[in-house]
Amino acid sequence: MPPRDFGRGPVTSFAMVPRGLVDTSYQYILINTLGEKKNVGLVQLNKPKALNALCTDLILEMDAAIAKFEKDDKIGAIIITGNEKAFAAGADIKEMLNQTYSEVMKGSLFGEWKRISHCSKPVIAAVNGYALGGGCEMAMMCDIIYAGDKARFGQPEIIIGTIPGAGGTQRLTRAVGKSKAMEMCLTGDQVTAKEAERMGLVSKVFPASQLMSEVIKLAEKISSYSPLIVTLCKEAVNTALETTLQDGLQLEKCLAYATFATDDRKEGVTAFVEKRAPNFKNS
Ligand code: CAA
Repeated sequence: MPPRDFGRGPVTSFAMVPRGLVDTSYQYILINTLGEKKNVGLVQLNKPKALNALCTDLILEMDAAIAKFEKDDKIGAIIITGNEKAFAAGADIKEMLNQTYSEVMKGSLFGEWKRISHCSKPVIAAVNGYALGGGCEMAMMCDIIYAGDKARFGQPEIIIGTIPGAGGTQRLTRAVGKSKAMEMCLTGDQVTAKEAERMGLVSKVFPASQLMSEVIKLAEKISSYSPLIVTLCKEAVNTALETTLQDGLQLEKCLAYATFATDDRKEGVTAFVEKRAPNFKNS
């Protein structure tokens, strides 16, 4: 099958990542809008020589790009990806080399990383190659992880005398359970994409060359639904990780009832009964 054309000329690269828009305000990322309706935002990490090591400036650019897509009513979902060798090989070790305790405390090291997990729109990680340390943590901040078959996940901080600091011990444990998370954090060993899928860290694995087209399909599907209802649904699922079952069920009930106050729920149900496609208005 020939590479898909995403509207900016043929896509030829290995990972089929549509070429990013030239936006000179970014040094370490490329951004683009994808999909037939251009309703999917793409952030591609673009520091390939350092395997997309996550320096502070890269994270700040990522934050700005996510904020931009979040504000854009046309965008229904956001994809974060890297390249064929690395999603990201972790926080920038060279940047951390001479940092002291008081500096990281005062500077709130990794504080800026929270932006992704606070995004109200669905964020999908498309992981080819290494997702290590902060790279694995960044993928776990996303709502769904799809991986290429050569992807590798790990929390190798222990090897360099530190521990995960951007959610690795917490999100990994919630995703895969204590024993596996403990094993990964205490040994620094990597797991393959297939193992990550078996453990529940990754939703689906595809041949590396198909990853991007599959992720775009997923993002387009989510973007075709009511953005308002998608946001409520995301909030409900995320709450499951933060609260007791009873409190979560209570919140879910409130949010489900809240959909009855929206035009889009009326439209969705009416469209079903009238056997036609819904025309959601985000209201
Ligand atoms: N930070 C800074 N630079 C990095 C990096 C990182 N996390 N990972 C790789 N690089 C750089 C290398 O220094 C090298 O640069 P030079 O060519 O200038 O020397 C370049 O990327 C290519 O790397 P390698 O030559 O090491 O490539 P490889 O194919 O032999 O090995 C690898 C690949 C196994 C991923 C190896 O690079 C590696 O182990 N990287 C470090 C992984 C790691 O420890 N990540 C955790 C960081 S700490 C963290 O993330 C804390 C947190 O919780 C947020």
